[in-house]
Amino acid sequence: MTHPLTILGIESSCDETAAAVIHDGKIVSNVVMSQLIHQQYGGVVPELAARAHETNIIPVVTAALKEAAMEKEQLHAIGFTQGPGLLGPLLVGSCFAKSLAFSLGIPLIGVHHIQAHVLANFIDDPKPHFPFLCLTVSGGHTQIILVKDYFSMEVLGETQDDAAGEAFDKIAHLMGLGYPGGALIDRYAQEEGNPQAFAFPATHMPHFDFSFSGIKTVFSLFIRSKTPAFIQANRADIAASIQAVLVHMLLDKLTKAAQKSGIGTIALAGGVAANSYLRQQLKALAAQHHWTIFVPAIAYCTDNAAMVAITAYYKHQLKAFTGLDAKSLPRYPLRA
Ligand code: KG4
Ligand code: ZN
Repeated sequence: MTHPLTILGIESSCDETAAAVIHDGKIVSNVVMSQLIHQQYGGVVPELAARAHETNIIPVVTAALKEAAMEKEQLHAIGFTQGPGLLGPLLVGSCFAKSLAFSLGIPLIGVHHIQAHVLANFIDDPKPHFPFLCLTVSGGHTQIILVKDYFSMEVLGETQDDAAGEAFDKIAHLMGLGYPGGALIDRYAQEEGNPQAFAFPATHMPHFDFSFSGIKTVFSLFIRSKTPAFIQANRADIAASIQAVLVHMLLDKLTKAAQKSGIGTIALAGGVAANSYLRQQLKALAAQHHWTIFVPAIAYCTDNAAMVAITAYYKHQLKAFTGLDAKSLPRYPLRA
């Protein structure tokens, strides 16, 4: 009997300490510990994040192994997020992954965080066929990616300033909501918020690029012109209206990219892909344009280690291992 190929994935690029185990391409455990310490500061404090990763990484990896009912000696490889991300948090994950791989005498596999977000679409069935377009929207990135193969990706367009998740978080902050704000805007908008209650202008950029800094300024001027009582009373409508314009900007470019490329297989990735309005609007567009769409489960959109594990699994098939002395990032597509 052959043993299933078993890989541990570790994610520590920002404020989630996460570990997952994958058996022959199937996720068998997925543990995420979100760091709550940053809420009081309204954003992630890198040094505090690194310290929290140090505290959490052993319990999180231990929990992932326990959930998978296995011992670390049964692992065949260790995958970890090599970047991009916050330096201190990345160092904690990479030092831990390197030490564990070295002590067990098994290969190490460095994973690019954004590639992992895209490949989260391969965790569950059905899986997309190549080529497909992936709208990758997180706290640090907003890109339309042409995915030609697991590790052949071309960025067709991207934000020229803030990422979409960053815009969600800053807008939530201006509304006096907590951090991280994207999920809170989503939640308040669902309280029967009317997406047409307030008109916020979309920003138009050439090609398939995006810009989200202007809308943030417009929103800040809007908030300054209103009283706290008005904002409180109209919270759901304000959240729904600003969310609608952000989602419209994303889907407008995605539609143009689909039309220009002639590709009708469309996927979502990244934390903002957890947004319920984005998911719902993409479904409506898919029906209209006859697209086949792929949207990962919410747990695989926001930062997690299952996406790192699946990426490491595909890299293992290529024997794309990382040396213990690795300093540089894995190869990532440059803009076309
Ligand atoms: O991918 P991710 O977990 O971390 C990064 O790689 O950046 O993305 C985090 C971003 C944050 O900006 C957060 O506010 C946003 O994803 N986000 C959402 C939702 N859930 C998370 N934005 C809108 N609606 C949501 N439901
Ligand atoms: Zn991420």
